[in-house]
Amino acid sequence: MKFFIDTANLDDIREANDLGILDGVTTNPSLMAKEGITGEQNILDHYMKICAIVDGPVSAEVISTDYEGIVREGEALASMHKNIVVKVPMILEGIKAIKHFSTKGIKTNCTLVFSAGQALLAAKAGATYISPFLGRLDDISFSGLDLIAQIKGVYNNYPFDTEILAASVRHPMHIIHCAEIGADVATCPLKAIKALANHPLTTSGLETFLADYAKGNN
Ligand code: E4P
Repeated sequence: MKFFIDTANLDDIREANDLGILDGVTTNPSLMAKEGITGEQNILDHYMKICAIVDGPVSAEVISTDYEGIVREGEALASMHKNIVVKVPMILEGIKAIKHFSTKGIKTNCTLVFSAGQALLAAKAGATYISPFLGRLDDISFSGLDLIAQIKGVYNNYPFDTEILAASVRHPMHIIHCAEIGADVATCPLKAIKALANHPLTTSGLETFLADYAKGNN
């Protein structure tokens, strides 16, 4: 399973990249705003800073909701850097645009996916990735992981190239369950990625090893 980091925070992106396990980055307008990045040019400049840190797909979201606007914005974003993936909302105008992008060889991430039907439409249109938001489903008492499993089952029936990019990941168990289901990618906050490394027996075992080594070397 590929690991993307879900943030626009450059320090977090650098830290995850330095671990050597980072495959890409996802952003959205809310994550940009959280970092104080506002205004079109500042946002575009920020994508370039992210692309300079990580050599992998970087999702950049369009804000248009009409076909012509999505295409115009998406083509401009894709022309900025070879690693930019155009993030398109799961609306019918977005599906039309994804089809257009796929015929032009422009990579896309269909975002705000909350049902298997939406995932099927996006795959038919040729989306490179679809982003089911599992945490947001959990928040309203629907199982986000059940949705990922359902989409995986549907995609297994057909030769779609679309990758399942589990999004809205909130904690390490989400990541582990996504891997068990066979999601292609999980995009996660840095905290959830780092939490995968934690185990109390590792911590206590290492303390003991180091203490025993110190005894023999005093
Ligand atoms: C990813 O592409 C999404 O933008 C993101 O995972 C949404 O996560 P949230 O539900 O924590 O805002």
